Amino acid sequence: MRKPIIAGNWKMNKFIPEGISLVKELKEILKPVKEREIVVCPPFTLLFSLAEELKGSNIILGAQNLFAAEFGAYTGEISPLMLKELGVIYCIIGHSERRRLFGEDNSLINQKSKIALKLGIKPIVCIGETLEEREKELTFSVIKEQITGVLAGLSSSELANIVIAYEPIWAIGTGRTATCEQAEEVHSFIRKEVSNLYGERIALALRIQYGGSVKPENIASLMKEKDIDGALVGGASLSADSFSKIVRY
Ligand code: PGA
Repeated sequence: MRKPIIAGNWKMNKFIPEGISLVKELKEILKPVKEREIVVCPPFTLLFSLAEELKGSNIILGAQNLFAAEFGAYTGEISPLMLKELGVIYCIIGHSERRRLFGEDNSLINQKSKIALKLGIKPIVCIGETLEEREKELTFSVIKEQITGVLAGLSSSELANIVIAYEPIWAIGTGRTATCEQAEEVHSFIRKEVSNLYGERIALALRIQYGGSVKPENIASLMKEKDIDGALVGGASLSADSFSKIVRY
């Protein structure tokens, strides 16, 4: 059985006091929830305070990015070891905003995922097609290329520590969610591709999140699909009310 994983991607939002009060509320509301893995991914500036705040709770700390090296002359970057020092367990890697705005490609995302795994951080690796690619019926070829690229050289045991987030770019922040059928079609394709690469046992254990305008109103029907194992939530993760409703769908 794959335990559903719901992660909140706060993106570049929340000052320290707001972030702390948000997780205080979440901790309270979500205390009884055992059947989901709950992750919050705040900006770097909040990681230290939230690590303290979340100690002993059922909410896990995640980051939004990392650099593909342990230490060195990389001005402005953050090492996976530094995240680990703060108690970060998961890290979003290759979000479409990073691909689009900062030129991250499958090969860099692959390097970042490899070093994260080596140093003990679990990657939430993002993939997804643009609207143009979907309209040209390129979705499956784009997804296949992304899967092959981002997972290149990873071992079967490393796959056990990865989560894949399928986020159709046209659904992110647009209010336009993929239909459950559209999402499931791609999720099952991803699982099939992973099965071709790593075998069925590994593919069946892999958790694949859906992301893109997930809200309290659409999460339950998405989660009914066979291959959807959770959600990566942007906008709706910024309030305790909507995020907790999503977690408890
Ligand atoms: P959204 O963002 O939920 O605001 O669409 C999702 C994401 O970018 O991870």
